[in-house]
Amino acid sequence: MKINAFAIEEWMNEYEDDAVYNLAETCVDSLSLEELVTLGGEDYDSFFRSIADKKLTYGHITGSPAYKENIAKLYETVKPENILSMNGAIGANFLVLFTLVEPGDEVICVDPTYQQLRSVPESFGAEVKRLRLTQENNFLPDLDELAALANENTKLIIINNPNNPAGSVMDAAYLEEIVEIARKHDAYILCDEVYRGLWQDPKADIPAIVDLYEKGISTGSMSKALSLAGLRLGWIAGPQDVIRKCLTRRDYTTISNGLLDDILAVHALENYDKLMERNLKIVRENLHVLDEWVQKEDRISYAKPQAGTTALLKYDIDMPSEEFCKKLFNMNGAFLAPGSCFDVEGTVRIGYACSTEVLKKGLEKVSEFLASIEEKSVQSI
Ligand SMILES: Cc1ncc(COP(=O)(O)O)c(C=O)c1O
Repeated sequence: MKINAFAIEEWMNEYEDDAVYNLAETCVDSLSLEELVTLGGEDYDSFFRSIADKKLTYGHITGSPAYKENIAKLYETVKPENILSMNGAIGANFLVLFTLVEPGDEVICVDPTYQQLRSVPESFGAEVKRLRLTQENNFLPDLDELAALANENTKLIIINNPNNPAGSVMDAAYLEEIVEIARKHDAYILCDEVYRGLWQDPKADIPAIVDLYEKGISTGSMSKALSLAGLRLGWIAGPQDVIRKCLTRRDYTTISNGLLDDILAVHALENYDKLMERNLKIVRENLHVLDEWVQKEDRISYAKPQAGTTALLKYDIDMPSEEFCKKLFNMNGAFLAPGSCFDVEGTVRIGYACSTEVLKKGLEKVSEFLASIEEKSVQSI
């Protein structure tokens, strides 16, 4: 089995630790252990004393009842038995693909997106058709194109809502149309919803695919919207038969997730509203900062994100995106992700949900870099 290298993960692995202004990170500014435990006013020491006699067994194999109950509450129609705990959304996505995709299957996947969603089914021998998202279309899929790509051999349609890297969102009506196309061909829909909840519009009411479609599967995690990537916990929410088939394969790779991670995740989920209040404040204030910066930078444009933590910035400079990011990084330590990781040259991806201070300083450094390119091109005239 061959698989393409995971471009964005390789990029992050190589540079992230040395970044001075990390504008490539996609999680909302991570919480410390102490911030998490004391979120609802609890005493830090008492919290750990209360779990001191826990035996470090494998714990509940599919996720603790409290974990699954709290996750189920994030949906309209989902019951705890429709939830399967996994190691992050990356583990959840992988398990769904490992379970559903067989050699020769046809799969449709939005593009750009998190590369795992297309490279893994390709590696399993599926024919993956790309449904391109472009800035001209505000990074939303063309539904006529989707209808033309789908046929009776389509096993799975893969979408990502909100989208990484663009921050675009499909609303309920849009999703209903995708469901209609999938239902016509009896295809599954996998929707990676790892950024769900991080809406810019306070009135947004965007359903999860699992609540809309009998063959809809939603994946999510503690990492992005809940700022707790270090727990390495995520989940699949799906129909019973899919969960059962996933479990058969999961027994070979996972057994269970970490018992302490589960306890901390339950604590976070019990304080969900407080955590989301903090995180929505960060993403909304920071997008305002980013938007003001984009408006004043002549050589930068973008489709303003509607949700999530990332945006694709288009730059009007004749330079490959990887060179752009490396030169910027070497000049002043500001760290972005090249659009080449998403097959969108001439762009860079920014993650704007870091601390507001890092965002402001990082953007100043990007401006410094852009000005230095301008100076050089003036000198060379
Ligand atoms: C769309 C998307 N899905 C899944 C993941 C994996 O996240 P995790 O495994 O930390 O939940 C990421 C991480 O960047 C992502 O952007």
